[in-house]
Amino acid sequence: MGMDPPALAKTTHRLRPLTGEDLPAMTALDAACFEPGWNYPPEVMADFLLAPGAQALGAFEGETLAAFILWIRREIITLDVAPRHRRRGLGRTLMRRAMRAIGKRGYRRACLQVDRDNAPAIALYASLGFTVEREFAEGGKARLRMTVSWDSATIAP
Ligand SMILES: CC(C)(COP(=O)(O)OP(=O)(O)OC[C@H]1O[C@@H](n2cnc3c(N)ncnc32)[C@H](O)[C@@H]1OP(=O)(O)O)[C@@H](O)C(=O)NCCC(=O)NCCS
Repeated sequence: MGMDPPALAKTTHRLRPLTGEDLPAMTALDAACFEPGWNYPPEVMADFLLAPGAQALGAFEGETLAAFILWIRREIITLDVAPRHRRRGLGRTLMRRAMRAIGKRGYRRACLQVDRDNAPAIALYASLGFTVEREFAEGGKARLRMTVSWDSATIAP
């Protein structure tokens, strides 16, 4: 019925590495993606971004940060896709790019943590070869640690 904004449906996102200048946009997007208390405040996001081995990749629509992924060495710290940009392949694209970058650094394994009830994210990770390594409780939530090794990954680095 043409109710979707046409510009949104047709736009190709531009990918680029993120820097300290992007921190306000990253923090704002993280707050839009996670419930209060589970999003990263600015100083925590800054610590992640500036940590040794940290890399972040953003997807932009014009000047707007639509999605980003941040990882440190072989651990995915966060993957955030703005609500209106979901289900268009951005999460998968960013995950694949991060996994490739992790592989290029010589790692043969990647890991992450996710809420056990976060079905969309778990489906995405499983489709990329991640499996549950263990379940644990954190802040009253059931969480999963998921890992992939390149042998089992659908994406070879
Ligand atoms: C999880 C998240 C990153 C997915 O991003 P996305 O750009 O919408 O994902 P994609 O369009 O690349 O979808 C890839 C696959 O993920 C799965 N998926 C994504 N959203 C889904 C949903 N709502 N329900 C079920 N599966 C879903 C599907 O397997 C999908 O493949 P398909 O479209 O071929 O069926 C996004 O929903 C998000 O930012 N959520 C809030 C933040 C979050 O939970 N981050 C992860 C924390 S560990």
